[in-house]
Amino acid sequence: MPLRSTPVLPFDLVVFGGTGDLAHRKLLPALYHREEAGQIPADARIISVSRRSLSDEQYIDWARESLLGHLKSIKEEVMERFLKRFHYVSLNAVEGTGWDALGEALSGREDVIRAFYLSVSPDLFGPICSAIGKHGLITEKTRVTIEKPIGKDGKSASEVNETIGSVFKEEQIFRIDHYLGKETVQNLMALRFANVLFEPLWNSNNIDHVQITVAETLGVESRAGYYDTAGALRDMVQNHLLQLLCLVAMEPPESSGANSVRDEKLKVLNSLKALDAQSISRNMIRGQYRAGASAGGAVSSYLDELGEDRSQTETFVAAKVEIANWRWAGVPFYLRTGKRLASRISEIVIQFREIPHSIFNADAGVIKANQLIIRLQPDEGVKMHVMIKDPGSGGMRLRQVPLDMSFAETFEVRSPDAYERLLMDMIRGDQTLFMRRDEVEAAWKWIDPILKNWAKDPEPPKSYTSGTWGPSASIALIERDGRTWHEE
Ligand code: BG6
Repeated sequence: MPLRSTPVLPFDLVVFGGTGDLAHRKLLPALYHREEAGQIPADARIISVSRRSLSDEQYIDWARESLLGHLKSIKEEVMERFLKRFHYVSLNAVEGTGWDALGEALSGREDVIRAFYLSVSPDLFGPICSAIGKHGLITEKTRVTIEKPIGKDGKSASEVNETIGSVFKEEQIFRIDHYLGKETVQNLMALRFANVLFEPLWNSNNIDHVQITVAETLGVESRAGYYDTAGALRDMVQNHLLQLLCLVAMEPPESSGANSVRDEKLKVLNSLKALDAQSISRNMIRGQYRAGASAGGAVSSYLDELGEDRSQTETFVAAKVEIANWRWAGVPFYLRTGKRLASRISEIVIQFREIPHSIFNADAGVIKANQLIIRLQPDEGVKMHVMIKDPGSGGMRLRQVPLDMSFAETFEVRSPDAYERLLMDMIRGDQTLFMRRDEVEAAWKWIDPILKNWAKDPEPPKSYTSGTWGPSASIALIERDGRTWHEE
């Protein structure tokens, strides 16, 4: 089955950080796929901007190499058509040079969509936005996209938002959380709101607890410099994990429109039970990986990758989170994320309650509670564990089986990367899958006390061996409640 796509209107996409890592790994491959799908109109251009001094031709050669290195399959004629869209402008945002050249490259195209994508260090968000305004580059159809991290705490996030907001209107600002662009994350919305089955059960009467795991096998490697200033709480929990939690926990929005969905997510963030020093030490576990084995090979410790003797930065977080509202009171949400864990798995597990009374005798076996598993990666799909009668003669024996839907097996389509959808939504001006300012700030409001508490805690993060599921305290966190982390 081919991927369906609706062409977008003509655009100029200006990528700041056009020779950087994100452009290399994600943006260029995503745009190529949209080209191949026929979604990019003839009159669309991509203007790459970076400090390096390159000609259009040199940049195009670099982009060709980059695509060949990152795409599994590539069609020569599609690639050559795609590369013709590229222009290059050398601009130094710190020194303020190159803006006239960018102005010239854009001039005469005031009537097409103009999208600025800031794939640069966050301290440049403000200066670049201000310069875009100062150089008169904002048209009626202009939007700006920024990548996380937006700030390093509530105060700095609000300052960044304030500066960008003094140049662009909120409807023009697209704050990316790429987890929202993942296929299965959107499927969570479809599952909840396009079926009658789940919504009546989606509350504390029927759900015992929820687990959200985003586990990676990679370490921080060459990103250690940035990562050491962030840590897993800022890098993953403040954004990706809390956004997933919001989609699981939010009330049905009035429509799928951007503000309806974001209003409901905001209510969840505002209902997160605030943590004090005591609950932080009890319900939040931080860890840091030491050397071990991952994906079959020996790997170094975080400190070795960082090149330091010590660091308080956490590469793992497990948390027990509560949502103080009628729907979720008393239902813990267990979150866990980390680098160098046993396998790369991102999933949401909805653990239902046990049946109130069994009509079967002891020979039938244990009746296990239902479980709905939404697998984000690697093998996207939805699995529902239900009890059935063991087939065959003899007495009534029960067993749990999965109703398993693997997307790869069910649909013969390539699952698009999150950036493909997000880039096209941004061009279209659809903000549903982007974070609004108040959401970002509400998430920081919940995170800030944890950061402050950890900053003054002399105890280092708990050490865990690479290739395991994190520090034993994270296992104890859930087991002391009589529950266990889901493992297949
Ligand atoms: C990024 C984090 O936002 O998400 C990285 O900065 C992390 O540290 C990445 O590795 C994980 O994304 P994905 O799509 O590979 O699960």
